[in-house]
Amino acid sequence: MSSVQNLLSDSKSRLSEKQDDVLSRFEVETVFMDVYSWTRTDMLLHLQDIVPNDKRRSRFISLINELYDGRPLAYVLGHCAFLDADYIVTQDVLIPRPETEELVQLLSEDLSQSDYESLVFVECGFGSGCVSLSLARRFPDALIFGWDISREALDIANKNKFLLDCQNAIFYNGDFFDGFSSFLKECESNVSIFIVSNPPYIAKKEMSSLDPSVLKYEPIEALTDYGDGLSFYKRIAEISDTRIKGVYCEFGESQGGSVASIFGEKADILQDMNGKNRFLRL
Ligand SMILES: C[S@@+](CC[C@H](N)C(=O)[O-])C[C@H]1O[C@@H](n2cnc3c(N)ncnc32)[C@H](O)[C@@H]1O
Repeated sequence: MSSVQNLLSDSKSRLSEKQDDVLSRFEVETVFMDVYSWTRTDMLLHLQDIVPNDKRRSRFISLINELYDGRPLAYVLGHCAFLDADYIVTQDVLIPRPETEELVQLLSEDLSQSDYESLVFVECGFGSGCVSLSLARRFPDALIFGWDISREALDIANKNKFLLDCQNAIFYNGDFFDGFSSFLKECESNVSIFIVSNPPYIAKKEMSSLDPSVLKYEPIEALTDYGDGLSFYKRIAEISDTRIKGVYCEFGESQGGSVASIFGEKADILQDMNGKNRFLRL
C-alpha cells in the first residue's frame, strides 16, 4: 500500500526515464486526476492518504504504462481540451493541436463584427470535429458542414457534436472536394461561405522525420497527402465561386512560401504565437 504522494512520485520517476521531468509530472498528475475524478486541490489535500488496491489504482498504473510506452496523453485519456471544450479522441483522429486553436481564433475574430445573413462554414477534414464544433458554438446562427474521408472520424465527430449539443454542425463521410462540389450546386445564391481546413500537409518524403509517437499512433491519412504536402492547398485554390467569401487554412512551418504562391497576391500568410508562418487567410 502506498500514499498518493508515493504513487505520484514513483510514476513520475518512471516516466522521467523517457522524457523530461516537467512533462512527466504534468502527465502523471493529469492522469491521476482523471482516473480519480479529483481536482488539483483534492489531490494536494490528500497527498498523505493511502491509495487502496482497487480497480482505479490498477487503471492508473495501466495508463502510466501506456504513457511509458510512448502513447500520447490524449489517446491514453481518450479525450483532450480544445479551446473552451473537451473532445473525445481515439487513434482514429488527429489529436487537436494548439496551432489549430489559433486558426479558429483568427477566423472567429475576423468574423466577430461581420453581419453576413446566411453564414456557412465548410471544413475539409474535420477529424475529431474540434474546428467545426468550435465554430458552431461561437456562431450559433451559422451552419457548419464538414467532410472527412475517414468513416471512424465521422463517428467520433458525431459523438462530440452530441455531447456539445451543436445542432448547427453537419458532418459527412467522404472526399471534401466531391462533397463540396455537390453542396455548391444545391446551395442558395445568397449564402456567404468560408472554407476552413487543417489538411494533411506532411510531404510523403518528410514522414520519416516525424516524432516516432506521431508516426506510431496518429492516423496516417490525417498527416500526409502522400505527395508534396501541398495538394490540398492546390485543390482548394482551384475552387472558384462567388459565394466563397474567405479561406482559412493551417499549413506546415516551412510551407508559407509555397502556399502563398499557390493562392497568389491576395493571400495573407500569418504567424502563430511562436512567430512561425502557419496560417493562410484569403
Ligand atoms: C490534419 S487532420 C485535421 C483534423 C481536425 N480538423 C484537426 O484540426 O484536428 C486532417 C483530416 O483530413 C481528413 N482527410 C484526408 N483526406 C481527406 C479528403 N480528401 N477529404 C476530406 N477529409 C480528408 C483526414 O481523415 C483527417 O481527419
